[in-house]
Amino acid sequence: MGPSVGAREAERGARAVLDPVHFDYLAGGAGDERTLTGNEDAFARRRLVPRVLRGPGPVDLTTDLPGVRLAAPVVVAPTAFHRLAHRAGEVATATGVRAAGGLLTVSTMATTAVEEIAATGAALWFQLYLQPDRAFTAAVAARAAAAGCRALVLTVDSPVRGRHARDARHRFTELPAGLVCENLRDADGRVRDLVVDPDLGWDDVAWLGGTTSLPLLVKGVLHPADAGLAVEHGVDGIVVSNHGGRQLDGAVSTLDALPAVVAAVAGRVPVLLDGGVRSGTDALVALALGADAVMVGRPVLWGLARGGADGVQEALEDLTDGLAHAMALVGAHRPGDLGPDLVTIP
Ligand code: FNR
Repeated sequence: MGPSVGAREAERGARAVLDPVHFDYLAGGAGDERTLTGNEDAFARRRLVPRVLRGPGPVDLTTDLPGVRLAAPVVVAPTAFHRLAHRAGEVATATGVRAAGGLLTVSTMATTAVEEIAATGAALWFQLYLQPDRAFTAAVAARAAAAGCRALVLTVDSPVRGRHARDARHRFTELPAGLVCENLRDADGRVRDLVVDPDLGWDDVAWLGGTTSLPLLVKGVLHPADAGLAVEHGVDGIVVSNHGGRQLDGAVSTLDALPAVVAAVAGRVPVLLDGGVRSGTDALVALALGADAVMVGRPVLWGLARGGADGVQEALEDLTDGLAHAMALVGAHRPGDLGPDLVTIP
């Protein structure tokens, strides 16, 4: 794997080792990929206005999120099919996350059973797609809780599947033989097909919150009115996300959507952001504009593809070390010292 590399270099390394069809599945977005590129562009537009002579003292990035205290406000986003990126799949991801002291959100579409992922000792959240069969959904949630996951993350931006041009071009519609969504097995051990449900409403969020003892976050909020509704329906956290540009092409970038969501939530629950976070400086910008933590998707997949658990650990440490370094350079000791005054669009 060589020396520590940034996210862009890691992407090139992953492209070099992956089947091009699988690389395009992981890297690609919906439609013309405007939202995919827009997420990164929104960070690239921002510049920092640092403070100086803010006194000595170490940087402390300790962050409390639902069910977990973290050494840094960086969470691994749920992404499907890690066995496409590396033969050891989600077990390698979780091993790297544990070594970095981080938190992994296990996808409903993971290619490894949540119990096996939990056996690595990594701190976990579990991402859910509500299935029309509510009893089955509740059983999946209960299974995640029994495995030791500390919170549920309900993805709400997928009433229909995104249209991915790269996958259509490759006719990539099925997982390679032997890979299945291991967490969609029912009581008989049969793997159910994932259903995206266009009929979901806020009542379903309240229902899920009532069926589980775990904290519940919703992922995929962009509109401030929805952020307010989420809080009213009792959620414990909100993830500002456009699914890494894989659902609605043309959706606003997450960084541009963040300030209005933060204003609507008004500190009542933690707000996370994902999409386009590629460096510690990007993480700092998101925190300065009001996020309590960031999630990262593709950079972790590139680390996994390049170097298994070590590659995942390196990707996460690149982000958290970069964040601590940038904190020192803007004159901040704790995330709470950061504010929108530190960020400008020249
Ligand atoms: C995703 N994402 C995703 N989200 C989710 O809630 N459930 C899932 O199963 C998946 N699967 C998935 C697969 C792949 C290959 C990617 C790239 C993404 C979306 C993910 O959680 C997150 O929102 C984005 O990846 C964040 O953007 P970045 O960091 O990849 O730019």
